[in-house]
Amino acid sequence: MSDKIKNTIAILRQQIRQHNQNYYQYDQPVIADAEYDQLFQQLLQLEQAYPQYQTQDSPTQRVGFAPAKVFSSATHKTPVLSLANAFHTADMHAFDQRIKRRLQLQASTSIVYNCEAKIDGLTVCIHYQDGKLVRALTRGDGYRGENITANIQTIGCIPQRLSGRHYPNTLEVRGEVFMTKEDFARLNKNIQEQNQRIFANPRNAAAGSIRQLDARVTAARPLSFFAYSAILPAEDQKRITCQSLLLEQLASWGIPVSPETAVAKNIAEAIIFYQKLDAKRNQLAFEIDGMVLKTDVLEMQDRLGTLARSPRWAIAAKFIAQEKTTILRSVEFQVGRTGVITPVATLEPVVLGGVRVTHASLHNMHEIKRLAIQPGDRVLVKRAGDVIPKITQVIKQVIKKNQPTDAVQKQGITQYTMQHTTQQTAQKQESYGIRAPEQCPACGSKLIQEEEGVLLRCPAQTQCPAQLIQGMIHFASRPAMNIKGLGNKTMEQLVQKKMITDAADLYQLTIKDLMQLEGFAELAARNLLTAIQNSRSTTLPRFIYALGIREVGQATARILADHCISFTALMRADVADLAAVKDIGLVTANYIYDFFREEKNQRIIAKLEQAGVSWSDTEYPQVQKKSQPLVDHTLVITGSFRQWTRTQLKEKLHQLGATVTSSISAKTDYLLVGSEPGSKLTKAEKLGIKCVKEDELEAFLAGKDL
Ligand code: IVH
Repeated sequence: MSDKIKNTIAILRQQIRQHNQNYYQYDQPVIADAEYDQLFQQLLQLEQAYPQYQTQDSPTQRVGFAPAKVFSSATHKTPVLSLANAFHTADMHAFDQRIKRRLQLQASTSIVYNCEAKIDGLTVCIHYQDGKLVRALTRGDGYRGENITANIQTIGCIPQRLSGRHYPNTLEVRGEVFMTKEDFARLNKNIQEQNQRIFANPRNAAAGSIRQLDARVTAARPLSFFAYSAILPAEDQKRITCQSLLLEQLASWGIPVSPETAVAKNIAEAIIFYQKLDAKRNQLAFEIDGMVLKTDVLEMQDRLGTLARSPRWAIAAKFIAQEKTTILRSVEFQVGRTGVITPVATLEPVVLGGVRVTHASLHNMHEIKRLAIQPGDRVLVKRAGDVIPKITQVIKQVIKKNQPTDAVQKQGITQYTMQHTTQQTAQKQESYGIRAPEQCPACGSKLIQEEEGVLLRCPAQTQCPAQLIQGMIHFASRPAMNIKGLGNKTMEQLVQKKMITDAADLYQLTIKDLMQLEGFAELAARNLLTAIQNSRSTTLPRFIYALGIREVGQATARILADHCISFTALMRADVADLAAVKDIGLVTANYIYDFFREEKNQRIIAKLEQAGVSWSDTEYPQVQKKSQPLVDHTLVITGSFRQWTRTQLKEKLHQLGATVTSSISAKTDYLLVGSEPGSKLTKAEKLGIKCVKEDELEAFLAGKDL
C-alpha cells in the first residue's frame, strides 16, 4: 500500500514538473489550467495525508521553473511566491478562519480584505532606481528570474520614468503582463493571415511575446500590464499601511493597476465581490481566472508570514474553468441559414463553465487544415459565457525527443514533451482524416467554393430544407419577430411536416395544425398561436432583420430603417442609393438590392403584409429625426439598472435617436452609469465624458439635462 502511494506521488510530481516546463519554459501548456490544478490538488492532498513522503524538491514546495539558459538571469532580492488556491466558497471561509486562529483572534472578528481580479498573464518584477526603469525579470523559479529588461521597455503602458515627486529611490513593482482579449484576437488574425501558428489563448500569447530574445518581436506585440504588489525601502513602507493604499500609491506614480479591485470589510463581502466578478468576467477587456484575496493591513501580512511556496495572507479563489481538454470523436458538416457549410466537432462530453459540452465549432475547412485535426485527437476546448464552444488547439499525443517546438526553436532549446500540431506539420501531412464534402449534407446539391476554397456554400437556398429551417428559426428569433415559445425543434417539425414553406405560412397556422406537433396539447398550441399573432405588430428594424438578407444584421437593419422614408422606398432603392447610406458597403448594398428583386421574396413580403404584419411607420424614419432629442449623440452603457434591462434601455435610446456603442472613445457624448459599473467609467472620467447616473436617468431620457 505505502509503495503504491509513494509511486503515485512520484508519478504526479513527474507529470507536474513536465507541465511546469511546458507552461513556464516553452509557453506551450498541453493541458488546461483547471486540469493542472486538479493534478496539483491531488499531490497536495497525498502529501498532507502522508507527510513522511514530503520532500523539499516537490513541485508543491516550489514556484514556476528555472530560467531558460538562453536568457541571462538574476537573483530576486525577495523571493517571488505563488498562491494557494480556493475552489469553493467553503475554502474561502476556511482561509479566513485559519488567519484568525494564527493571529489568535476570535472567530467572530472581521478581517478586512483587498479583493483583486486574478489576471491571467505572467508575473514580472520591474525595478526602478531614482524613478527610472532599470531592470525587469520574469518570476523564473521564484529565486532567479530571466532578464527581460529590453522587452519590458517596449510595453507602452509601463512607464520608463515614474511620475509625481514622492516615489522612493528604489522600487520593485510586481505585476502581471497580459494581452487584452481584443488585442489577442487581432494578433491571432494577423498571424493566421501569414499562415503561421496562432496562440491558444491570451496568456500563451503574452508569455510567448515577452520571453523573446529579440525585443523587436516583443515590441510588435500588443502587451499590457497591471501591478499588484511592490517592495519599497523600509522608511517608505511605513507610510503605506494597506495593500489598497499601496495600489493607489503605485497608480499615482503612473503605474497601471487593475480597476477590478475592492476593499471588503469581512469575508462575506469578499465572497459577494467574488460572485460579482465571476458574473462580469466575460464582459471584461482582459481574461481573469479568479479573485485574489489579500489581508488588507500590511502589518497583518508580516505577522502571518509565508510558507515555502505561498503566503499565508493571500489565496487565489478560482472561477469555474472555461477551458479543458477532451477527445475529438468526429466532425460533421452543418448547413447554415445562408447555405454556408460549417464543420462542427463532436466531442467526448466535457463540463465547461458548469455546462456539459458535446459540440464545438471549427469555423471552416481552412481551420481544419490549419489544426491538422483528426478524430481521436486531444483538443483544447474553450467556452466563455454564451459563446459557442471553440476548439483552440490540438495536442498530438506523440512523444518526440529533441524536437524543438515553434516557440522555442529559434532559441535553440530542445525539449522532451508532447508535441503540438504546428503549421509546419500540417503542411507536411498530405492527407488527413477529414475531407470537405462535395455535396450538401441536407439536400445533396453540388456545393460551390468561395474565398479560395475556405468557404463552401449550398446554392439551393430555401429549396434546401436545412437552409429553410435555419431561415425560419432566424425569422422567429428574439431580435427578429420575437415569437415566444417557437423553439428550434418545433420549427423543424413545422418544416418537415410541410406545414410551412415560408415565413408567411406561420401566420396561417391554426390551433388544429399546432396540436399535431409533438408535445403540443391544446393550451400550448393556443399560447403559441397567440405568440405568433402578437408578433405581427413589430418594428421596422426587426422586420428588415427578420427577412434574413445576407450581411444585414441587427445594426444594419436599424441603419436601413433609420434612412428610408418607408419600407416600400427601401424595396425600390437602387444599389447606388443603398451604398450612399452611411456604413453600408457596396457588397451589402448589392445583397439588399438582389434580395428585393427576387420574385419569391416579393411574394413572401406581400403575403406577410396581407397576414397583418405591420410596424409603426413613424417610429424611426429620417423625417422624425429632428424631434428625437438624442439624435447625433453617441452613448455607452455600463453597469446594470433596476428599471431597465440592457435590451430595453438600448431600444429606448435608439427610439430617441441615439447611437449606442460598446466602448468609450473620444466620440462618446454620454456614459449611462448603472450599479457595478465597469472600467468604462474610469475611462470616461479620464476623457471628461459626461456621466448620467441611475437616479438621473429618467430625467435624461425625458429630454432634460441635455
Ligand atoms: S499576488 C505573494 N495578485 O497569480 C503573492 N497575484 O497563481 C503574489 N496573479 O503568481 C501574488 N493577478 O502571477 C497576486 N492581483 C493579483 C494577481 C496575481 C494575477 C498571478 C501571479 C501569481 C499567480 C498565482
